Amino acid sequence: MERKKVTIQDLMGKKKEGKKITMLTAYDFAMASFIDQVGIDMILVGDSAGMVVLGYESTVPVTMDEMIHHCKAVRRGVRYAFLVGDMPFMSYNISREEAIRNAGRFMKEAGCDAVKLEGGLEVVETVKRITLAGIPVMAHIGLTPQTAGQLGGFRVQGKDAVSAQRLLDSAQALEEAGACSIVIECIPDKLAGLISQSLKIPTIGIGAGPACDGQVLVTNDLLGLFERFTPKFVKQYIKLFPMIKEAVEIYKNEVETGKFPGPEHTFVMEADELSKIMVNKIHKEK
Ligand code: KIV
Repeated sequence: MERKKVTIQDLMGKKKEGKKITMLTAYDFAMASFIDQVGIDMILVGDSAGMVVLGYESTVPVTMDEMIHHCKAVRRGVRYAFLVGDMPFMSYNISREEAIRNAGRFMKEAGCDAVKLEGGLEVVETVKRITLAGIPVMAHIGLTPQTAGQLGGFRVQGKDAVSAQRLLDSAQALEEAGACSIVIECIPDKLAGLISQSLKIPTIGIGAGPACDGQVLVTNDLLGLFERFTPKFVKQYIKLFPMIKEAVEIYKNEVETGKFPGPEHTFVMEADELSKIMVNKIHKEK
């Protein structure tokens, strides 16, 4: 069957049919192309870029221009997946006008299909305004890394009845505000199940158990490319970092010992042509 570009309607349809939605992050053309070829439904250019590719300590320093730069590269590698651009810290918190303007940049400059922003009840009005401007919004509740300090650090959210109720209320209010989907990060599995059942829009879980409508992981975590720390909810499907390190060490050694480049990696000149140059050289030197 010919592949078609994934739409919001396709994602809603998958939820209705009880089919799981797949989502991964990407930050550049090459990784986006691989992920798209496999048939992953959604690609998120996460502000996790700040930590896993830009080397910041957190996602807080990431700027709009950095996000647009990564989104443009990813866009060039994606033909089918639904592409979501992550709004960085302070790009949607200062005023609704600025939030709409910045969300618009993800669509106009980078060709994203939707934007994602973090927060619960406090961002409901912003989600509504961006949606009314014609930009699909993916919400993000639970552990929200941009404001992890306020949440007491990187820890599971919604463990008691009061905070669990707040998350459920937030999810419902975000859906009413027009959100097309919602990331649920680091909350207990039963609460994630309850939220997923209570919404028409798909929930995409990360550290929220199997009852969500879909799952997302940071691709660099899944591939074992981020060494600084590995959260409990990450499954590493391969450990690429030591493999890359070993390959680079072998290269270094081969260059230093003259083993690389070998004849198979070298362009040669016909002996005749070479002797013509040598003759010319001798003439010039006379
Ligand atoms: O920035 C990111 O990669 C994210 C995902 C972890 C959902 O927000």
